Amino acid sequence: MRCLILGGTGLIGSHLVTACDDRGYARLGTWYRFPHTDHVPLDVRDGDAVTELIADYQPDVTFLASGLVCSGYAEAFPDECRDVTVTGASEVALAVARHGGSLVLFSSDEVFGDSATTRREEDPAVPTGALARCQVEAEEVVRTLLPDRHLIVRSSWVFGHEERGRDRACRLVRKLAARDTITTASDRHGQPTYAPDLADVALELARLGQTGTVHVVGPDRHTEFTFARLTAHIFGYDTDLIEGVPAETLDDQPPRPANICLDRVKLRSLLGPRAIRTTADGLRGLRADLQPATMVRIHAA
Ligand SMILES: NC(=O)c1ccc[n+]([C@@H]2O[C@H](COP(=O)([O-])OP(=O)(O)OC[C@H]3O[C@@H](n4cnc5c(N)ncnc54)[C@H](OP(=O)(O)O)[C@@H]3O)[C@@H](O)[C@H]2O)c1
Repeated sequence: MRCLILGGTGLIGSHLVTACDDRGYARLGTWYRFPHTDHVPLDVRDGDAVTELIADYQPDVTFLASGLVCSGYAEAFPDECRDVTVTGASEVALAVARHGGSLVLFSSDEVFGDSATTRREEDPAVPTGALARCQVEAEEVVRTLLPDRHLIVRSSWVFGHEERGRDRACRLVRKLAARDTITTASDRHGQPTYAPDLADVALELARLGQTGTVHVVGPDRHTEFTFARLTAHIFGYDTDLIEGVPAETLDDQPPRPANICLDRVKLRSLLGPRAIRTTADGLRGLRADLQPATMVRIHAA
């Protein structure tokens, strides 16, 4: 399989690159602001460049993992968020429609906003923030332009080794190493998803020719507080450094919806119950992935 990974320098994209290498798939990644000798530069908003790349490389599958993750940044710069997320998805989907292959778009649990019940793939999206609204639009664009050749992978709280150590677990480890007290929400939930497993599942679904939307999240549901405590425990730091408080008392804007839970029935029926490992096993995997040199950088940062 020939894979084009847009956002090859990011958390999800870099694990897609590794997963392709592990499976012996041909792959090409792209970078945007973080130059990478193994990849090619690309701004997904540049339609001509996107078309040229896809026409030249002729991928069987294009993975659209280039996007924003920070909701606060998206609220502050809504036009940029829309350009990267929606215009970018549109340019890529148009190029794939023209030159063949299929498209895998990474989206998130936040498309459902705050919801009291577990959300299935076909449930209506009710986004509340700027980033989630753009993600819903990007999903719609991809469904419209590639009705039979798209896969939307919705995930949550992705964590794993990333060169810049920006994922949520590495940020926690950095603070714990500095013995900073960490105040987290004890009533805001997510489904931590280990990045190497997410990447492998996305590749496998693409190989199987799966289309439509699939929720790809880990088997456990955590609060920010319990995830932080588990991270401290597994990395051998003092769990008392973590304090849990009601989300409404935190000064983080915009607040993430407190209650989100993606249904995993479809994922289980496609790839079995263990396609994504537990949060504890993922954190142990991350601990093993962090080579001594990386840990030194984490401690020093
Ligand atoms: N992380 C999560 O928990 C999570 C959960 C669900 C869904 N998602 C979605 O999955 C996607 C990837 O997330 P991630 O965590 O891997 O993000 P990330 O680590 O921040 O990586 C983002 C990637 O996008 C690239 N990029 C940014 N702006 C670009 C542009 N204008 N043109 C081309 N490439 C651009 C970045 O390139 P440079 O680094 O070279 O600048 C980087 O490779 C995002 O759409 C995110 O919303 C993430």
